[in-house]
Amino acid sequence: MAAYGSPLYIYSRAEIEANWREFDQAFGDHPHLICYAVKANSNLAVLNVLAKMGSGFDIVSIGELQRVIAAGGDPTKCVFSGVAKTRSDIQQALDIGIYCFNVESAGELDRIESVASALGVQAPISIRVNPDVDAKTHPYISTGLKENKFGVDIEASRALYHKAQQSDSLNVCGMDCHIGSQITEVSPFIDALDKVLNLISQLSEDGIDIQHLDLGGGVGITYDDEQTIDIADYIQAALAKVGELEILLEPGRAIVGNAGVFVTRVEYLKQNDDKSFAIIDGAMNDLLRPALYGAYHKALAVNENSTGVKDTWDLVGPVCETGDFLAKGRELTLAQGDYVALMSAGAYGFTMSSNYNTRPRVAEVMVSGDTHTLVRKRETIESLFENEFTLDT
Ligand code: LLP
Repeated sequence: MAAYGSPLYIYSRAEIEANWREFDQAFGDHPHLICYAVKANSNLAVLNVLAKMGSGFDIVSIGELQRVIAAGGDPTKCVFSGVAKTRSDIQQALDIGIYCFNVESAGELDRIESVASALGVQAPISIRVNPDVDAKTHPYISTGLKENKFGVDIEASRALYHKAQQSDSLNVCGMDCHIGSQITEVSPFIDALDKVLNLISQLSEDGIDIQHLDLGGGVGITYDDEQTIDIADYIQAALAKVGELEILLEPGRAIVGNAGVFVTRVEYLKQNDDKSFAIIDGAMNDLLRPALYGAYHKALAVNENSTGVKDTWDLVGPVCETGDFLAKGRELTLAQGDYVALMSAGAYGFTMSSNYNTRPRVAEVMVSGDTHTLVRKRETIESLFENEFTLDT
């Protein structure tokens, strides 16, 4: 910590690799592509570790595609998800050459066709089908219900596939579905799988051949002591149903979530009659999940021999909002200057951080074997003003 300063994200290369391998090996010889969801953690070093293992990537912006390329990843192993692709996004993705567009609406299909036709190329597409299943997760991260903005209604998808099949500018190659995130039971995945397999067989009767099925991401991790999905069981259950179809998965959290911690320092201890606050130097702008979703991250005091005070603490940050807490009601022994590690912070930690309260975004470090390397410099305050201008008069 002395070398890098506080607060800080720290990632474990070995854990990222082990998690990716767990998915990969569960497939055995079955044709598959693991497309890591870049949004979970898009640090170039993280992407580079995965690229070296041969991973594919799920991207939702041209920025993420450029990151994959900058990190040595293979664009032809990228699937492009997201509900609002612009003409420029589509054109750039076609110029670069990606594996497939995951199409989220009829309007997007028309747009991809028009851009591909203007370029004189064929766009590889897969329709993101909304199977209308309840992923039984936090409503903000549930995506597979009819009421969500994602994907195409399963009934409407069949007609859309017919339309796509007739176009010379579109190459129908797959089907996609992603029902949500932090899912801790296999059953919603299997319910969704049954529905999309049914659509695939209907399409096959119609003469439309689907070559790959993308089951999205969403595998939940253990933040506290909750039970979650056994990855091998999930993949075995899926493979038992899919025949020869190539399977794509888009895991994000399950690969990086438990490979990262957020470390922050105790600045002050403030004990009132009935409340004890540990005021830390990390805040909601650095790790938004607790404030946004009421998410739980385990908190561990890093200084084991602390001479501090044992109490039940709320860990609160410097940002001027009551919602600025990283953990509540945690029994810890703390002293000023101690460090606290918020565990399971490798996914949707740094990537959701902001400059709120003009706070520079923190540094990131990766541990590999017995070495540690700075993989992102802490931002400077000057850099935060770089793109701003005052008026002349
Ligand atoms: N594929 C698509 C199309 C997605 O939208 C997502 C996540 C993933 C894959 C990866 O899902 P994962 O395997 O990581 O569950 N910020 C929230 C999570 C938002 C997830 C958004 N989509 C959080 O911090 O919990």
